[in-house]
Amino acid sequence: MKDNTLLTNQVTELLYQALETEKGGVQIYTTALRCAVNEKLREEWQKYLDQTKNHVQVVTEVLASMGLDPETETAGRKIVRHIGTALVKSMEMALRGGDPKSAQIVAAECVTLAETKDHLNWSLIGEVAKKAAGDGADVLKEAYDQVEDEEDEHLYHTQGWTRELWIEALGMPAVLPPPEEVQDVGTAAEAAQAKKGRKKAVASR
Ligand SMILES: [Fe+2]
Repeated sequence: MKDNTLLTNQVTELLYQALETEKGGVQIYTTALRCAVNEKLREEWQKYLDQTKNHVQVVTEVLASMGLDPETETAGRKIVRHIGTALVKSMEMALRGGDPKSAQIVAAECVTLAETKDHLNWSLIGEVAKKAAGDGADVLKEAYDQVEDEEDEHLYHTQGWTRELWIEALGMPAVLPPPEEVQDVGTAAEAAQAKKGRKKAVASR
């Protein structure tokens, strides 16, 4: 792929969806923080909120540097926004339910759902950056390198929190903070390994 073919409609669509995902992420973490009961989880989500605010900035700058208006509406980003709003409303519904621990689990599930899309966006941006050439590709590559590790952490660590909070709610021995967090997992393979190792962590308590 040459530089002048980089701005295909679908790459543009991906970037707009990525921006909308990050913007939704700010709302989702802000609401999730109201649901967080566990102090360590609260610290974690506060850090992710700050990083997500920076990701909004990063994607906005990528779009601007490509001559694209960050405000442009697309059919796809409308759907991403709709899902983000639904996740925020779900957490608010859980908060109204009056059971703080259940609301915390709902929030962890909502963050996991949002971060699954976010993680997908960035891995696709990474693929596009690899195949592309020229200035546009450099901008994408730079953005990807800046954000990638944080996105891995947001998804895999929150998945671990969600699983362990559920296990705790089910009355079984939970590992909190989850092994993904303690082992600072950054890849799917490490996440699988950490999940496998949770039995040992439970046994050693
Ligand atoms: Fe992000």
